[in-house]
Amino acid sequence: MKSEILEGKAKIKASKGKITRKMPVFYNPDMKLNRDVSVLLLKSIKNNKMKIADPLAASGVRSIRFLLELNKSKVKEVFINDASATAINNVKSNLKLNKLNKSKKVTVANEEANMFLLENRPFDYIDIDPFGTPVGFLDAATKSLSRNAILAVTATDTAALAGTAQKACVRKYWAVPLKNYLMHEFGLRILIRRVQLAAASNEKALIPVFSYSKLHYMRVFFRCGYKTRDVDEILKQHNHISYCTNCLGLNCNCKNKKVVLGPVWIGDLFDAKLAADIYKNNSDDSNNSFLKTIVDESKISTLGFYDTHELSKKLKLQPPKLDALMQKLKKRGFKAARTHLSGNGVKTNASSSVIIELLKKFS
Ligand SMILES: C[S@@+](CC[C@H](N)C(=O)[O-])C[C@H]1O[C@@H](n2cnc3c(N)ncnc32)[C@H](O)[C@@H]1O
Repeated sequence: MKSEILEGKAKIKASKGKITRKMPVFYNPDMKLNRDVSVLLLKSIKNNKMKIADPLAASGVRSIRFLLELNKSKVKEVFINDASATAINNVKSNLKLNKLNKSKKVTVANEEANMFLLENRPFDYIDIDPFGTPVGFLDAATKSLSRNAILAVTATDTAALAGTAQKACVRKYWAVPLKNYLMHEFGLRILIRRVQLAAASNEKALIPVFSYSKLHYMRVFFRCGYKTRDVDEILKQHNHISYCTNCLGLNCNCKNKKVVLGPVWIGDLFDAKLAADIYKNNSDDSNNSFLKTIVDESKISTLGFYDTHELSKKLKLQPPKLDALMQKLKKRGFKAARTHLSGNGVKTNASSSVIIELLKKFS
């Protein structure tokens, strides 16, 4: 059954009911935030006159929102594609519903996504939003990026990236994942490295500018450079990480046998200025707290964070109030912020011994 749905400024008709890839035309209301962030990011970067690719478009809602919500000078052309003929018929009627069917800026295609990208490249923005893993689209997508373009990648195979399906992660992402409170951060870092490797083989340097994990998916936006020197620098920031189950921390020097994961991207997950601009441009209150948390954590360049509940449990202590702990850390001259990756997490440049000392004092 199709029903009319309002999302942002777009009005679309799409299948409602149980969210499964078998829906005649896929539309997932839970992914509104995913599309909101795409719109906000495109609003917040300097790029203008962009040629945009939506190769896995389903109902076309994302592209329709770009056309309706972005400043006219931002968008030169939007290419909307899906391999499903039913989806593409639906895209056409949704364009009509939004009075965009005669827009000279829109091209609609019904092709396999990789073929579509390679035939119509280059693009200034590509949004890879598949069912499951994005890896099958990475070669064509990274080949099809113009200089300074943005690549957006969604992965919904979080079982692999977050360590439940370790072998699948090794097969698809060429890295060993972690399965504990840090799994979402390291899932993101594994995904980032895998996209960067696909790009490197096409001589493109992809720097993550906004990364997050939410609900059942992980999402990363990259800025594309063309300098081979930058590609080499990126590859230097791929490393294995050791996690200590005794200290519940990363790369510690104690004698306990470590869990080794990765390789992962060890650089920043965000461009802090872009995160601040995205937050500034947001006008939907329901996104505020999520985006503000990212603004705060983007100012701290560290690997991982401390989960105060996990640490307190290990030390047989009462967990502290997060705000009080952060205040104490800041008083001592450390940086501290919440992380969107865990309600009990604190991101800080303080060492685990400082955190443990404070946890004991609080208790
Ligand atoms: C998760 S949905 C996309 C959701 C959409 N981007 C949105 O924001 O609502 C994935 C879509 O990719 C399409 N698809 C799957 N494999 C494809 C391929 N190889 N080439 C083109 N389209 C494909 C499916 O028909 C489906 O509509």
